[in-house]
This record gives sequence, structure tokens and C-alpha cells, in this order.
Amino acid sequence: MPVDRCVCHDITFARLALLARRERLDLDELSARTGCGTSCGMCRPYLSRMLHEGRTSFDPMAIVPATTRPSPTQRST
Ligand code: FES
Repeated sequence: MPVDRCVCHDITFARLALLARRERLDLDELSARTGCGTSCGMCRPYLSRMLHEGRTSFDPMAIVPATTRPSPTQRST
């Protein structure tokens, strides 16, 4: 199932992208305005990609949140 919204605030990425474009909002401004990305935070990587790529639907397996990526010192070689 594709990810197409902030679940906590039930706002689609399509609506958020439109608002961001109209108001020229960056991620922090969009989050402050809508609350999206400020509750559980799981939508934040998707919001970032939405703003950079213009996409509004994502394969949930294609994005690994930065907080779950191993740091360079944790990676094995
Ligand atoms: S899904 Fe957007 S803050 Fe939880």
C-alpha cells in the first residue's frame, strides 16, 4: 500500500504539496503550519522527498528514515 498522507493529521501529500508550492514553504514551515511531521514523525522523510521531487505517493519500502540508518561507525565492512 503506497504512503500518500500524514496519518497523524490525515492530510494527503497532494494537499501538502499544493500548500507548500502556493505558500513557498520549506519542510519546517510546512510542519509548523499543518502539524504534519511533528507528531510521530514517520511522514517526515516522505515530506522531504515530496518537497524535493514533487511526488505525492511513495513505496514505504523505498525510504529508510535517517534515524534508523546505521551511522558510519555502526556499519560493518
Ligand atoms: S504520520 Fe505525520 S506526524 Fe505522524
